[in-house]
Amino acid sequence: MYAFDVLSVKYSGASHEAYLEVRIEGLPIGQEVDLDRLQNFLDRRKSGKYAFSTPRREEDKAEVVEGLADGKITGPVIVRIKNGNTRPADYSFDRVPRPSHADYVAKVTYGRAPSGGGAFSGRMTALTCIAGGICVQLLEKFGVRIASYISEIGGLDCYTYDNGTPKYEDIERCHGYAFPVPDPSKIGLVEERLRSVAASGDTVGGTIETVVYDSPVGVGGPIYDGLEGKVASALFAIPAVKAVESGLGRGFSSRTGLSANDAFCVADGKVMTVTNRSGGINGGIANGMPITFRTTFRPTPSVAAEQITADLSTGENVPLTISGRHDVAFLPRAVVVTEAAVALAYLDAALTDGQLFDKNKNE
Ligand SMILES: Cc1cc2nc3c(=O)[nH]c(=O)nc-3n(C[C@H](O)[C@H](O)[C@H](O)COP(=O)(O)O)c2cc1C
Repeated sequence: MYAFDVLSVKYSGASHEAYLEVRIEGLPIGQEVDLDRLQNFLDRRKSGKYAFSTPRREEDKAEVVEGLADGKITGPVIVRIKNGNTRPADYSFDRVPRPSHADYVAKVTYGRAPSGGGAFSGRMTALTCIAGGICVQLLEKFGVRIASYISEIGGLDCYTYDNGTPKYEDIERCHGYAFPVPDPSKIGLVEERLRSVAASGDTVGGTIETVVYDSPVGVGGPIYDGLEGKVASALFAIPAVKAVESGLGRGFSSRTGLSANDAFCVADGKVMTVTNRSGGINGGIANGMPITFRTTFRPTPSVAAEQITADLSTGENVPLTISGRHDVAFLPRAVVVTEAAVALAYLDAALTDGQLFDKNKNE
């Protein structure tokens, strides 16, 4: 369970259990949720949608257990999806933990390495999509939209907001491409790169950028109430996330104050900034410019090529060839997961300070 300030989420089940379930508390009562749109959002994470994804196929049909009636939120929302396509026999890493997966730490901490990665599996991110997908719909009612795309994959630069915030419509369009990169001329290069990595039994990671459009000024707060910290904790909860940057992020380190600052200006009677290096946040609070985050994922730890690991029963160092079904590149599937995580954190911040919804009506 994770408690933000107003919202909390609790995940149950695991990769090879009968089902996965998410319970979301704190959502504003009476708000409408379109279940077809929620399903479409969740479907963007499906493995069959992108090449070089895991061959494991799951229907991932979102079933409402409680908290939604006649399309409206009535209380804590519980949604479930079934696991149908499990093959536990393929995953036995209790004795020989996979390098850089959670098998070893799970065995030491909980007594066994769970089948299929258990609660550490990327499969748990389906629950993030359900919780965040509801938040996306609530935010849209207030004109706040969130969209992510692949910025870099397997060492290939595809696009970055450092060169200018992409239009929402261009990002939305790219979700229908073979790979969700804003510039379609990059798709062939991405395919070529992934083909050669897959052929060598290896995997890739990369970086996803997320933009929050049309945020009102004022969402967030100082210090621990800061929007950046809240969003970062939601993004770091996604398996395989190893870095989160706000605005220019690490790019600030080589700049001077003058080349880092965003000058204020007034355009059409509205206060704006000429550049957006701060990524739409000053002092932990949205300043009205697009909010931008960059999230970096490690490559899939389960590679097909042989690796060395420790045999925990004999104490010997042994070769390991990983069986089972894995993503060569899970990044395309993680795009929607980052949107969901940012939506959860942003909505919580908006509910906390009453920016979008009247918090009292929620109690
Ligand atoms: C959408 C998604 C799919 C993933 N698929 C796999 C996979 O097929 N095989 C694998 O070994 N890791 C996969 N991962 C990554 C692991 O879950 C993750 O690396 C592991 O739990 C260890 O956690 P850490 O990398 O955060 O330390 C996936 C992650 C995400 C977000």
